[in-house]
Amino acid sequence: MIMKPMVRNNICINAHPVGCARETLRQIEYVAARKKLYEALPGPRAVLVIGASTGYGLASRIAAAFGFGAATVGVSYEKAPSETKVGTPGWYDNRAFEAAARAEGLVSHGVDGDAYSAEVKAEVIRAARELGLRFDLVVYSLASPVRLDPETGVLHKSAIKPLRAPYRGRSVDVFTGRISEAEVQPATEEEAAETVKVMGGEDWALWIEALAEAGVLAPSAVSVAYSYVGPELSWPIYRDGTIGRAKAHLEATAAALSARHADRGLRAYVSINKALVTRASAVIPVIPLYVSTLFKVMKERGSHEDCVAQIDRLYRDRLYAPGPGGSPAAPALDPEGRIRLDDLEMSPGVQAEVEARMAHIVPENLATLADVEGFRLDFLRIHGFEVPGVDYEADIAPDYDPLEPAVPPEEARAPGDRAR
Ligand SMILES: NC(=O)c1ccc[n+]([C@@H]2O[C@H](COP(=O)([O-])OP(=O)(O)OC[C@H]3O[C@@H](n4cnc5c(N)ncnc54)[C@H](O)[C@@H]3O)[C@@H](O)[C@H]2O)c1
Repeated sequence: MIMKPMVRNNICINAHPVGCARETLRQIEYVAARKKLYEALPGPRAVLVIGASTGYGLASRIAAAFGFGAATVGVSYEKAPSETKVGTPGWYDNRAFEAAARAEGLVSHGVDGDAYSAEVKAEVIRAARELGLRFDLVVYSLASPVRLDPETGVLHKSAIKPLRAPYRGRSVDVFTGRISEAEVQPATEEEAAETVKVMGGEDWALWIEALAEAGVLAPSAVSVAYSYVGPELSWPIYRDGTIGRAKAHLEATAAALSARHADRGLRAYVSINKALVTRASAVIPVIPLYVSTLFKVMKERGSHEDCVAQIDRLYRDRLYAPGPGGSPAAPALDPEGRIRLDDLEMSPGVQAEVEARMAHIVPENLATLADVEGFRLDFLRIHGFEVPGVDYEADIAPDYDPLEPAVPPEEARAPGDRAR
């Protein structure tokens, strides 16, 4: 089968196995080339990433493993390929990560299943015990439309909607360049509460509780969850909308977790990250137009970063910058207690320029004022398409596994070893 991207409304329903693996390796190479910068830092040794297969979670796992040499356990919910259908991008990303980790002698273990469930939490605890790991960093990077509550059996669905008043904003289809006016009706209180259930901090707290109770959380561990603030023009649909309410809950959970687990020295943070093209962010109204304009401005100024560059900075400058006595220094926080990794995005100069451009964008000047092509390429690449060096004319079977003949598992280090 010759595979071409199948995209509709900024959703891509297939993935190219070789391109996904190649993209993951590109991120690994980025971190590996900076390994020296990690050497003197008081980094983590055993890292659990919940939501590890794509986007910010994958970058977090890559930087922990290939920067610090940490053992990693990654949880994700992906579909394996079958004889008739290719797998989801994250399935190939996981394969590429695990093969590269083994080749480096790094301890890595993947758990594919519903992170919200009690079973997956138990499976991670079992794996940690078998591998002799106590997690000193837990990254919570889930982006999910639904959550099956393990206690009640109720399926909660998140919504991306404004609260109270309808939202009207311009959006762009990055494949056709068509600019359209999107209108989204306000959420009901029930939809807002459902979104908090899915994307708020409840499940993060359940994870920390389960790990602590099982004795697989190291003393003085760090946990970080990711959030977004963005420009005021997006607030009606994001920050002041249903998802913003969930993020406010997530942010409040960080403080609650640090207080609840103060006896074991846990420090829980929320990091506000930069807007980037991931499978989750491409479907939010206004975001493709804003992000395309932002990319153009930041690339012109030389301050653009992708997921792995953001996490490289999170680890080296914020979470593990050396402090007194060799332990990590406390990271700088904003008045709401959050790490701001979106500082470059939100700098007044960048925001003023983006706002001015967005007010004047019409189809005729779209390519000059905004980096729609950059958005389109990033979007295709996270699905394994248009990745440099990949032969897209090659005929591959849907269940082709580009890494099948990779390093055999027995060559991996013994569990529990501190990797090189
Ligand atoms: N993309 C952005 O612009 C941006 C900016 C700031 C913050 N964030 C935040 O970063 C976090 C990660 O988002 P992303 O954009 O990297 O998303 P993503 O879609 O690339 O990754 C989501 C991850 O969650 C996993 N996942 C989803 N449901 C799951 C389930 N039930 N069980 C196990 N795993 C599951 C997926 O397999 C994947 O690994 C989110 O909290 C998001 O709000 C994103």
